[in-house]
Amino acid sequence: MGTAAPTPTLRWTGDSIEIIDQTRLPAELALIDVRDVATAVDAIGRLAIRGAPALGAFGALALIVGLDEAQPGSMDDAVDVLERLRTEIGDARPTAVNLRWAVDRTIDAALGDGAAADVAAVRQRLLDEALAIADEDAQACAEIGRLGREVLAEATVIATHCNAGRLATAGDGTALAAVYAKASCGESVRVLAAESRPLLQGARLTAWELADAGIDVSVVSDGAMASLIVRGDVDAVIVGADRIAANGDTANKVGTLGHALAAAHAGIGFYIAAPTTTIDAAMPSGDRIVIEQRDADEVHHAGGARLTPTGVGAVNPAFDVTPARLITAIITDAGVLRPPYGESIADALAATRCAQPEDDRC
Ligand code: MRU
Repeated sequence: MGTAAPTPTLRWTGDSIEIIDQTRLPAELALIDVRDVATAVDAIGRLAIRGAPALGAFGALALIVGLDEAQPGSMDDAVDVLERLRTEIGDARPTAVNLRWAVDRTIDAALGDGAAADVAAVRQRLLDEALAIADEDAQACAEIGRLGREVLAEATVIATHCNAGRLATAGDGTALAAVYAKASCGESVRVLAAESRPLLQGARLTAWELADAGIDVSVVSDGAMASLIVRGDVDAVIVGADRIAANGDTANKVGTLGHALAAAHAGIGFYIAAPTTTIDAAMPSGDRIVIEQRDADEVHHAGGARLTPTGVGAVNPAFDVTPARLITAIITDAGVLRPPYGESIADALAATRCAQPEDDRC
């Protein structure tokens, strides 16, 4: 494995957020210094920062940037600013549940009990909560990696889609945390990264971060993965998630569903790896999940060049929903969840709440 510590995907500098500009990878490891809300929202919208858990940590930190930028003169003004930011930042992308969840959690921690005496106290509370979210995510990634390694003990050739690694979280990733855990224990592992058209998170980002870590990775065009799975060239498929419904239906990068169908056909394991913060208990099933529709130009172009004839249309859903029945297990920081997911998810969320010391429901 690579020895140099990887550049953090996001980092609080003291008065700004430093992020890797993921639109520039793999050509260039460029950083963006985010010190105003417009830059933060723009970075989310064009996927300079992306991946559900990373969006959560970033959105929470962006609240402090927004408060500093607005410089409210009173507590009432601070409340107004944060309510504006709740929507402006929290709704910058609709499918990844972590973004709005983290923004809500951070604002509620700052204002919820009404005990913050002044704007400086509100800012400190926002910062404490945002840093806690990032820290908890890193811990969740570590636990998912530990459990994922156990689940994938017999798997050597592992397929994945999009990027659910260090670039998508505040830690070692979700799906890729299992890969890192296997590699760090000296287990043989080879990753097949589906390219993930149209924005190529697999080809650009998963390939870059795994190669950087010294892990064997090959890029596979999206259309080729099903045949590789069906002919027996893949031992298991593991991907991340943007939103998991209460019944286990899971939204993830468009193209995931095809890999799940192929895995079911071939009889190999298809795993979701995600922190419990990606579970939306209020979402009964996947058919209600809002799927982000992105600009048609992303389909029309690749690498700056037009691929399609002028005048034709394009449809660009950013995510698809894999039904729970195609998912072998959901690997979370609260354990490996198995069907029936309605029960195992409810139990995991209850156990997570019980782990909070201040919770009086337990
Ligand atoms: O559009 P993106 O790049 O933000 O989509 C990301 C994914 O679909 C990831 O698989 C998901 O967020 C999980 S990241 C641990």
